[in-house]
Amino acid sequence: MATTQTSGRGTWNSKLGFILAAAGSAVGLGNIWGYPTQVADNGGAAFILVYLICCLLIGLPVMIAELTIGRHTRKNPVGAFKKLDKSGFGAIIGYWGVLCGVMILSFYLVVSGWTLAYVFEQISSFAGNTGLAEFFGDLTNGPKNAVFTVVFMLFTVGIINGGVSNGIERATKVLMPFLLLMLVLMAGYVMTLEGSAEGVRRYLLPDFSLISIDLTLSALGQAFFSLSLGMGALITYGSYLKKNQNIVESAALVTVVDIFIALIAGLLIIPAMYVALNQGIQIFGEDGSLLSSATLVFTVLPQLFENIGGGFGLFISLSFFLLLGLAALTSAISLLEVPVAYVIDEHNISRKKASLIVGGVVLFFGIIISFDIGLIDIFVAIFNEIGLPLGGLMTCLFLTWIWKTGNAISEIESGFPGAANSGLVKTWSFFISYVCPVLIGIVFVTTVLNIIR
Ligand code: PHE
Repeated sequence: MATTQTSGRGTWNSKLGFILAAAGSAVGLGNIWGYPTQVADNGGAAFILVYLICCLLIGLPVMIAELTIGRHTRKNPVGAFKKLDKSGFGAIIGYWGVLCGVMILSFYLVVSGWTLAYVFEQISSFAGNTGLAEFFGDLTNGPKNAVFTVVFMLFTVGIINGGVSNGIERATKVLMPFLLLMLVLMAGYVMTLEGSAEGVRRYLLPDFSLISIDLTLSALGQAFFSLSLGMGALITYGSYLKKNQNIVESAALVTVVDIFIALIAGLLIIPAMYVALNQGIQIFGEDGSLLSSATLVFTVLPQLFENIGGGFGLFISLSFFLLLGLAALTSAISLLEVPVAYVIDEHNISRKKASLIVGGVVLFFGIIISFDIGLIDIFVAIFNEIGLPLGGLMTCLFLTWIWKTGNAISEIESGFPGAANSGLVKTWSFFISYVCPVLIGIVFVTTVLNIIR
């Protein structure tokens, strides 16, 4: 049902379809792995508070900005900024987004491949294979890593190939409710295990003296990553939105779902860590600090599941890695859709060819990373920690000074009659012009200084 404006590009079939797709993009490894381990690393509930502030006061306004730019221009990030700024200068923001998409996806795939490897291992251990304790080391030090990276990419490309409503929307509509159900059931189950109460206490009891500039940096970076902001994923998803959808309301819903899922994931992972500790499994290193997040998720938890033992332990373990893998898949789709939409729109190439070409490029980097997973930290520093806030900052500045907030508000109006006079939209306009750029700017400069030092 393409209109003349959107011919060939596709649109979301329903309002809910878009919300689930965007929530699918947002909910991913960032929520189920990143957020709980960041909370645990940064002293519990004090982090949660700062994180919530970052999501609501900075993330949500930036999300509204990205969706509005996308729907107005009906283009990928490069095309969108080009259309709004004839000087061509703005297109740099779009190119930066496409680059971040490719690079973030290349390591995201490797980690997503791990989830697949565990699912696979669990199924085959059904047939009597050995345990999981050594599995992570074996996996990440050999060619298996590359194989699972490639397989995960094939799933991702397969869905992207199906297009916007037939591929992305259809897949996320099935996967998202399933994911939520699994998460809630698993968190509920972990609560029944001995030692979990200590985890819940550590998770929810705040120690505000722990709030620091470092904690704030981590929280903002986590908010950008988790809400899929700063690289044009939501410009791209916004470009498939129908004119009558209320952007402010949709963005708010997506943000709330993303936060909610992270909060529940915290209630699963952190108590599970303390259940493991209770059973004598190491969760702290020799210096007393928490083990790395990868170790916690890919060796501590599997050991815990093994201790549960029997068919039930296997079932729990399988469910957990399936959950992580599915969440990763709906996010990987959106990371790939950004460069694919760019190639389709700007180079007039069919979706099928575009997904194969871009998929090949991403895989090239993915395979390199799979042979040296130490590279993941470098990619995270450049493309997540610097790349996303930088993209978000440029988006705020562009919208305010080049496109102008008045034009953005007219676009919002089409699905939100009376937007111009709404207090909500006025607040948004103030935030996107002043509050967000100043706050992101401060955090961004501090992050860069920290990394350089
Ligand atoms: N939001 C995803 C996650 O939490 C990752 C992501 C980042 C997806 C940027 C798209 C764009 O895992």
